[in-house]
Amino acid sequence: MFTSVILAAGMGTRMKSRMPKVIHRVCGKELVRWVIDCSKAAGADRVAAVIGHKADTVRPIIEDSCEIAIQKEQKGTGHAVMQAMEYIKAAKDCVVVLNGDTPLLKSETISAAVEYHKKNENAVTVITAVLDDASGYGRIVRGSDTNVVKIVEQKDASEEEKKIREVNSGMYVFDAKSLEYALGKIEPNNAQGEYYLTDTVEILLAAGKKAGAYAICDSDEIRGINDRVQLAEAEAIMRRRINEKHMRNGVTIHIPESVYIEDGVEIGADTEICPNVTLKAGTKIGEQCVIGTGSVLDRAIIHDRVDILSSVILSSQVKSDTTVGPFAYIRPNCNVGSDVKVGDFVELKNSNIGDGTKISHLTYVGDTDCGKNVNFGCGTVTVNYDGKKKYRSEIGDNSFIGCNTNLVSPVKVGEGAYIAAGSTITEEIPKDNLAIARARQVNKQVSDEWLAKRRKK
Ligand code: UD1
Ligand code: CA
Repeated sequence: MFTSVILAAGMGTRMKSRMPKVIHRVCGKELVRWVIDCSKAAGADRVAAVIGHKADTVRPIIEDSCEIAIQKEQKGTGHAVMQAMEYIKAAKDCVVVLNGDTPLLKSETISAAVEYHKKNENAVTVITAVLDDASGYGRIVRGSDTNVVKIVEQKDASEEEKKIREVNSGMYVFDAKSLEYALGKIEPNNAQGEYYLTDTVEILLAAGKKAGAYAICDSDEIRGINDRVQLAEAEAIMRRRINEKHMRNGVTIHIPESVYIEDGVEIGADTEICPNVTLKAGTKIGEQCVIGTGSVLDRAIIHDRVDILSSVILSSQVKSDTTVGPFAYIRPNCNVGSDVKVGDFVELKNSNIGDGTKISHLTYVGDTDCGKNVNFGCGTVTVNYDGKKKYRSEIGDNSFIGCNTNLVSPVKVGEGAYIAAGSTITEEIPKDNLAIARARQVNKQVSDEWLAKRRKK
């Protein structure tokens, strides 16, 4: 158990964005939320985020998942941590300090660093990594006995110190009391005139306490996002992690590099994900489904053995053994039953479709409650909008709707009714009736003169 303090008050100027940096997303989740969730997964019982730049934009995104401290002016990392003093004072044991822009950090790393910190009875443990190019980072200066002596910022480093490749990740484990003590002693005597959190190492050593470093192997984990290039790089790594997790759980992914799956998507075993598929947050897919090439699912709940090809499904549910597509568009708030066929160029919106119903091609069904085993002919349209209001249509079980039917809502089609092709239905059709609502065909014999005139160029 520990308290985690996440620094997220900075501007993020290099993102060139009207949004604060930490709410940019990687695989559907904000940078800072990745860090919050990671802290919790590692066992944090309290998480406090220090926010400042555009705090009003950041707050609503995170306030359900952590506590918030405000840093009005950005006077350095030490100053930022001071703003969370209330939480540091209340912390029972350790305080883990993290940055809000490092989405690739793994919870196992935090747990291991906390364990290392406790085992060594350190007052501070700095999480470090060895980089080929350490420029921009604070360097870990070790003494002749290899113990950590201090952290020196790039801007304050000597030529000799700049050659050090072990860097400060900006993440630390502190003994809570030691952190409180050290924060009281930090002064802004440095190249940037800031309160450096890194100074706590020297302060605690001077007070006779122990400082250590926990070096991690995978330097990706400490990657901080500063611009959109790094955002894309981090997302590529995260995407790979997510896809690999699904594959290890029994999901087949064809061309995984082309498949974008957001955090929190659930997929059952033996489901196949074809190339160029996008699965957005909140989507749940059952077992033995095929999500065909080019499909986009956003908050879609898909049951078992559903076959979807090149289609878009938004905030809707599709039950087992149904086929969707190619090129179907299921808009929000649809409930599609089992064994249904939603074929090519079919659009559904805010509708319930009963089991066994076939909507094979070129059809719009909106604001409709449709029963079981209904057959929609090609080109059926529910006319649900009069320019001001939307109305519902009701279609009974086992009815048969002829091709090119307009159902002008509000309207009711009785159970087992038949509609002749080309009908425009404006009135209720009773059970088992045949409705024909079109002008009768007239064939006329025309004169030779009429034909000659028509055919003249
Ligand atoms: C810091 C470390 C450096 C380390 C690097 C790792 C210090 C003095 N230096 O440098 O040793 O290698 O992180 O990325 O700590 N922040 C605030 N309020 C502030 C200043 C910063 O909330 O007043 C937040 C930023 O939003 C960011 C984090 O703290 O999330 C780190 O700040 P940043 O300015 O990027 O620190 P660096 O100079 O990179
Ligand atoms: Ca930084």
